[in-house]
This record gives sequence, C-alpha cells and structure tokens, in this order.
Amino acid sequence: MKIVKTIEDLSQARKELQGSIGFVPTMGALHNGHLSLMQQSIAENEHTIVSVFVNPTQFLAGEDFSTYPQRTQADIKICELAGVSILFMPTSEMMYAKMEPTILAPSAKAYILEGLARPGHFDGVLRVVLKLFNLTKPTRAYFGKKDAQQLYLLQNMVKSFFLDLEIVPCEIIREDDGLALSSRNAYLNAQERQKALLLCESLKVATHAVIAGERDIATLKAEMVHTLESLHVEYVEILNRDFDTIETIEIGNSIILVCAKVGTTRLIDNLWI
Ligand code: PAJ
Repeated sequence: MKIVKTIEDLSQARKELQGSIGFVPTMGALHNGHLSLMQQSIAENEHTIVSVFVNPTQFLAGEDFSTYPQRTQADIKICELAGVSILFMPTSEMMYAKMEPTILAPSAKAYILEGLARPGHFDGVLRVVLKLFNLTKPTRAYFGKKDAQQLYLLQNMVKSFFLDLEIVPCEIIREDDGLALSSRNAYLNAQERQKALLLCESLKVATHAVIAGERDIATLKAEMVHTLESLHVEYVEILNRDFDTIETIEIGNSIILVCAKVGTTRLIDNLWI
C-alpha cells in the first residue's frame, strides 16, 4: 500500500494504477463500518483508494473539528490489512486555496434534518468530495447508508454535474446489540452507550408497526418519539428516498431517520424500508 500525503504524489500514484478504481472517502478513526466499505470496494474493483481527511469546511463553529478522534497509525494498519492500494492523507492547506469557487447543496434538501442543525455542513461535504473525486478519478465511490442525507446529496451532485462515476450505497454496520458504528461513539461513556441503543430501538419499533400494517407517518413518528422520550430528540422523520415529505409509508421507497443527543454526543441512525 502506498501512503501519499501530497496532491502531486497522489496524481503520480494514481497514474500508475490500471483498471477500475474504487474510492472510499473517510475522516479516519476507522471502524468496521468504514472497513465494510473498503471490503466492498476491494471486491468490486481492481484497486481501492482510501482518503483520511478531517474536512474543516463541513464542521460548524463550535463543533468537534479540533477534537475529532485521530488514530493515524491504526488507520494505516487497517487500510494495509484490508488490501487498499493507495491511502491519501492530505492537509487542509493542500486541499483548499485561500480563494476558490465553491458549491452549494440544494437548500430544500440540505437545510432539513442534519442540515437544519448544521447549516452549511453539506456544502462542505460536497465541496471536499468533489475535490477528492477529481483527484482520485474513481470508477465507483462507496458511501454508507448511515449518512443517508449525505449519500442522497452526493448522488444528486454526481447526476447534476454529469460526473463519470458510480456512487455505491453500502449497508449500515452495527454492533451486536444494534448500535450503528460511528467514530463519535468513542465520546460515549458506559451509561450513555446503553442509552444510545434507544435510537435503533425506535427504528425497530417503527418497523414492527409497519410489519403489523401501520402506514400512517404521524402515528409511526409518535411511537418513535415515545420510545426516545428519555433522550433529547433532535428529529424523527419518515421521508421517501428523494427526501420528500410523505403521509403514508411507501414500502421500498421510505427512509426512517432519527437524531438524538446522548449526553453531549449527537447520534444519527436510519432504516430504509
Ligand atoms: P466518515 O464519517 O468518516 O464516514 C466515511 C464513510 O463511512 C461514509 O460514507 C459513512 O456513511 C460511512 N460509515 C460511517 N459509519 C458507518 C456504518 N456504521 N456503516 C456503514 N457505513 C458507515 O462521512 C464522512 O466521513 C465525511 O462526510 C466524508 C464523506 C468523508 C467527507 O468528508
């Protein structure tokens, strides 16, 4: 595996790769969720490029940019053992110029849910991912369904800008007890970790109700809010796969999304039905 730390070294290393390229962008502190994206990419492409870059433009003032978990040596080992061809680890100075054009995510879909609490967050995500796509020139890029709104907005960008690559949505990886893996789970103490299970529990409650025949969104949301009542709920939403509001569940075209704060840690989870 080549570890490259500059744009020049990346473009040189990229030129040497023949055949299909899978790309997995990350912010590091890699866990089994990231690993599953890498494994899928490695299985489906001749080479896989992983980036580890804590992107400043997607953090709002006061968020955890400066304290975001960093585990560089462990990240390198994980990528190496997985069979990654290139690990790209740039700095902010390399990725951003002082003055440059930018990109804005469509506000109707980027300023709801995650974007309501984090205005401008998705502009920063699209901006960095567009740069990373241009640098790595992937055949396919792998993103987790865990960040469903991010995935949707990236698919929208690829389509709108006619980018010549395929976005591959990947399943959410969970702990045995159901907690969705996240780099931010590292912030939870034992008691908070237990409480965090309510997020996936609320998704289960909604799914069981749907299986039992319930289709009304308001009823399903009320049941979820009830399950989550001991947490500080930020949103509970059920939308279609285009992130439009719906009144009744459309099987095969709906996403149930939840965000709650456990202590000071903001956690998200979702389920596609
Ligand atoms: P990060 O949070 O590091 O996540 C990198 C990728 O891993 C994302 O596509 C995310 O959806 C996926 N992922 C995280 N947890 C997962 C889980 N439990 N199961 C499956 N996939 C999971 O998302 C970002 O970084 C950044 O916004 C980025 C796209 C790299 C742009 O900076």
